[in-house]
Amino acid sequence: MMRRRDFVRASAQAALLSLAAQRLGATPHAGLAGAPGMMLHEADRMQWWREARFGMFVHFGMYAMLAGEWNGRTDYGEWIRNNAKIPLEQYDTLLDRFNPEAFDADRLAALAAAAGMKYLVITTKHHDGFGLWPSKAGRFHVAHTPYGKDIMRAVADACRRHGVVPCWYHSIMDWHHPDYLPRREWELAARPVGDASMDRYVRYLEAQVEELLTTYGDIGVMWFDGEWESTWNFERGQALAAHVHQCSARTLINSRVASQPANGLEATLSRPGLGDFGTPEQKIPDRGLAGVDWESCITMNDNWGFNRADHNWKSLPKLVGMLTETASKGGNLLLNVGPRGDGSLPPESVERLEGLARWMTVHGEAIHGTQASPFDGLPFRVTRAARRLNCFLPEWPAQRELLLPGLHTTPTRARMLGASPRERLGARLVDNGVVVTLAERPSDATCSVLTLEFASEPSVTVGEAGSAR
Ligand code: GLC
Repeated sequence: MMRRRDFVRASAQAALLSLAAQRLGATPHAGLAGAPGMMLHEADRMQWWREARFGMFVHFGMYAMLAGEWNGRTDYGEWIRNNAKIPLEQYDTLLDRFNPEAFDADRLAALAAAAGMKYLVITTKHHDGFGLWPSKAGRFHVAHTPYGKDIMRAVADACRRHGVVPCWYHSIMDWHHPDYLPRREWELAARPVGDASMDRYVRYLEAQVEELLTTYGDIGVMWFDGEWESTWNFERGQALAAHVHQCSARTLINSRVASQPANGLEATLSRPGLGDFGTPEQKIPDRGLAGVDWESCITMNDNWGFNRADHNWKSLPKLVGMLTETASKGGNLLLNVGPRGDGSLPPESVERLEGLARWMTVHGEAIHGTQASPFDGLPFRVTRAARRLNCFLPEWPAQRELLLPGLHTTPTRARMLGASPRERLGARLVDNGVVVTLAERPSDATCSVLTLEFASEPSVTVGEAGSAR
């Protein structure tokens, strides 16, 4: 049996998703300030995010000063206080030393923009509870360090200067606030539960979220994390999501605002008011995630927070491969950088961002604003736009004849991105698809991109014999 899967299916899905956005309380708006060219469609607050496809994740906090080392062990990251069991008073002494003078929000945003990352999600507070902005709601934050400056202000402003949408990561779990429960087992004696109250903690959490959403202009995403402990439940997540929408109706929320119901991510995202997109971590789902928006967050080495001993950096071709894979499966990629304790970026991260920038400058149009591949099981990745198909070729096919099985529309033009505008490759309709005759050499050393243009939306059949499946 042949299964016809043309672009109509995708349009139907888009209509459903847009309905879902309306359900989540979309308000009419013109666009996110500071994101030129990324206007929000009236009916769809997800639009800019879906078109973005690529964002930067930034994990920064006091833990970066420890660079992953404690008592001879060198494999810690942003979890260091918990994993190395550092007593609170000892961890708090970092406050007197936190002075990341080399933190350069403008450079960060410029690097993100150049790499084609349309939004930037930075940790406002990680699980250790330390805030990077001068919060009125508490005292454990940057204002009480030698640095003293408001990092959220610097990041939000820099992002807008560079046309990147500023977004906040914020941890629900908090190992510092006296009211947060449960306590870590290992510090129960030093930090007895006493009259700690999770309800009071939630009021603190809400006050901080409100500051973050009402002080720095429009914030694209509130990216929650640390929702899995026993004291957090679906109802608390629902109330927090409602609070976010009250502060800023257009801000998107990730699925981690609530602990996942037993039947998983799709169920979370289909419950009103809860989560606009799923967040697979350190992986790209095998076949994307059917019917929901999603974003894979992935590190450049093995750690989110800075770790001096972690040299396991992914290569540029690997990173480009991950970006093309997420885009071809209809998702976003949120790629992490972890600044060092002094705020500077590890040179390995900069090198990779610059490599991505070189590749994206030429090939970004095959990523931004595209949707999942209409093919299934091809040996290369594909994205589609209304009248275009983009094929990503990290390996150059030896036989130079590239078959797109199941494609029934002859392209009006076939060319390699970055090649001379006059270049036209031969493309012909055959029994089981379209064959494109490629040039002798790849057009890009990392990943060449073949673009096929069509007079109208191309039709693709995905089935058994002769096709990709
Ligand atoms: C996890 C970790 C955290 C990291 C995050 C990124 O939940 O606890 O350290 O910030 O994932 O997705």
